[in-house]
Amino acid sequence: MKKAKSRIGLLIISMLITLMFFSIPSPIAADVSSATIPRQVVLTWQGSTQTTMTVTWRTDERLPNAKILYTSNPDADIEDYQEAFGSSETFEGTAAWINSVELTGLTPGTEYYVIIPHETKEERFKFRTAPENPEKVVFIAVSDLHLNGTDTKGRERRRTVMRAMAEENPDFVIMVGDLWYHNNGGINDSDSVNASVDGFFDDLHQALITSDGRRIPVVPVEGNHDGMKSFVQAGQTPAKENAPFFYNRFKLPSEEGCYVLQYGPDLTLIGLNSGHSADSQGNHTAWLEQTLEQYQSSEWIIPFHHAGPYPCYRSLNETYETRVRTNWVPLYEQYGVDLVISGHDHAYKRTYPIRNNQIDYENGIVYIGDGGSVARLREPDLSRWYIFEAAKEYNFFKLTMTQEEGYSMLYVEPVFPLNKALVATPFYLMSSNDMGDVMRTEKELTLSELNDEGVVFANSINLPTKGFRNTNITWHSSHPDIIAVDGTVNRPKLGEENVIVTLTATITKGEASVTKEFKVQVLESLGPEGIGMWVSKDTKEVLIKGNYEFLGSNEIALLVTDKTGNIKYVHQKSRDALGQFQFSFKIHEDTMGEEYILQIGARGREIPYETKFYLTTAATDITVRSVVFSNSLNGEPINRLLPDENTYIHVSMFNNTEEDIDALIVAALYDSNNRVIDIVMEKEDVAGNELGNAYLIIPPVDGIDLDECFIKLFIWDGVSSMKPLAERKLYNVTNLSE
Ligand SMILES: [Fe+2]
Ligand SMILES: [Fe+2]
Repeated sequence: MKKAKSRIGLLIISMLITLMFFSIPSPIAADVSSATIPRQVVLTWQGSTQTTMTVTWRTDERLPNAKILYTSNPDADIEDYQEAFGSSETFEGTAAWINSVELTGLTPGTEYYVIIPHETKEERFKFRTAPENPEKVVFIAVSDLHLNGTDTKGRERRRTVMRAMAEENPDFVIMVGDLWYHNNGGINDSDSVNASVDGFFDDLHQALITSDGRRIPVVPVEGNHDGMKSFVQAGQTPAKENAPFFYNRFKLPSEEGCYVLQYGPDLTLIGLNSGHSADSQGNHTAWLEQTLEQYQSSEWIIPFHHAGPYPCYRSLNETYETRVRTNWVPLYEQYGVDLVISGHDHAYKRTYPIRNNQIDYENGIVYIGDGGSVARLREPDLSRWYIFEAAKEYNFFKLTMTQEEGYSMLYVEPVFPLNKALVATPFYLMSSNDMGDVMRTEKELTLSELNDEGVVFANSINLPTKGFRNTNITWHSSHPDIIAVDGTVNRPKLGEENVIVTLTATITKGEASVTKEFKVQVLESLGPEGIGMWVSKDTKEVLIKGNYEFLGSNEIALLVTDKTGNIKYVHQKSRDALGQFQFSFKIHEDTMGEEYILQIGARGREIPYETKFYLTTAATDITVRSVVFSNSLNGEPINRLLPDENTYIHVSMFNNTEEDIDALIVAALYDSNNRVIDIVMEKEDVAGNELGNAYLIIPPVDGIDLDECFIKLFIWDGVSSMKPLAERKLYNVTNLSE
């Protein structure tokens, strides 16, 4: 009793000094040494969890030189410790001096040993920084630890709960508000408030430490009892003014009531103020949306705030709850929040997965809470539709995030430290991690400009640089002159070969990386009117390509028959946006050496198949590459050959041998009775393994009705028998029904 009295005396003296000589150290303190004993050590983060740590402690006197010693070497002598300096401050309404040092430039994933110096009662402990890529993170969520300072039984309970938390060896503890009583009906006089706050920090100092002396950082948000007023209207009072104990005692990334901390790349903790010293609407909702958007690449996004949207005891329609549900829950659902932690109702609670205010097992969010870690418990209302499980029990949550190959797991266990016989249902959430994001990006990465055969007709290919959840994609092209890494396509010129370009996507996120290859066939440029045929001697594959002016229809059909008219292959497809089309098929091994007739036409036309190609699979020395029939020398697009005008024929052919060949190109005009009316021919020297071109002109023939006549094209390589290669009918315009 005597001791307690003299302590109160000292507090009053300190308060007077504070008011009168704000920053001058007390000259009349009888025992300087005891007044500077470091007490109530608490660790928080203001910046990076990997490279910083803020150490805050209380003294009864101002420290002229707030300082700590620290090292990462467990065997270091005290003279080898580094020094770091901070501030010593107080504020209105307390006798406490709050000393704070922020350590920066620390090494990630490292234990540091700390000494807060004092002549007789120095404070020693250790802490650890967050690893760069933690494979396992254990953390605790706890809420409503508020007690009167004189509640000795309650404080014993609080230390028991805190010791149980420390036994889990967590990396940090999230505290979701109501940590002491600043306002509580009649007891908001200064002594009671200070006793309640000191009681909290004394218990934390004593109990929230592991058996091997590691202090556990806390990640707190403010509850309705932590400030002068439980509810502040927007813009009324700055947060630090309404809740001076909270914002002076805890050094946080922001003094506005909302902040974000990242623990490794995959765990995003968003601390929010559910309307106590900051407005849960307006600016804070805008900040929340911006933050959720900014951290979309994080695997786990966990907001936490004192009052929750789905309470187990209070009415769903109370102000805090309604505002959180109205302003924040839609953003949680929109931005894929994984789990939400709240307090305030003083009972253990877990909801069903919820989305759009109803149970949604597929896409819902689970809300856990509701406080009752130490403060007086209340009876939850189990009849509510969203309650999966609830109990009037002292509780906290242990959360374990682990990284596996391709996915990350968050395991959530309710713990009842005062009733260990009670078991609630743990659950886990799954999310893809960096490797999973990379794998998903790889799976989803397609190039929509390629057709089934891997051919590109477009002038550019969209090569995305971002994949699932901000996964990076970089591109390499085997022929950057044909397809640049920005996706621009530059076709080989007419007469050059088609080119197969390998596009390689390297997909990375964090340490995870895979590559995906696309083989893209870029066809040589075609003239404005044309159709071409490519035959592979080795694979027996046939490729037909053309552009739409040739047939003037959206639906292009290909019919392959043998000489007796049996169908070997039939297909129909739409032209693409550029009006080009392509068919490819393979000649069956059993029918190699047979002669096929390829007829290409347009659906819906009166005469569906207008042009024939003749394909001899026992490849001749020369194969035709493309044939353009036109009524003009410059090959203007036409749909039909007019019988009373010149027919121009442009043949592109390929020499399949090493030797030069004198090819003879013959075009013959037949009447409807299959009698030859006219023949034109041209000789062309085609070099080995090269393309050659021939141009022929068939003039109109006087005195003969050329309607229903047709032209057959032959190439003779000097060895094979002369077989027709292409055939095209001439029509009278009036016969067409376009
Ligand atoms: Fe509470
Ligand atoms: Fe509360």
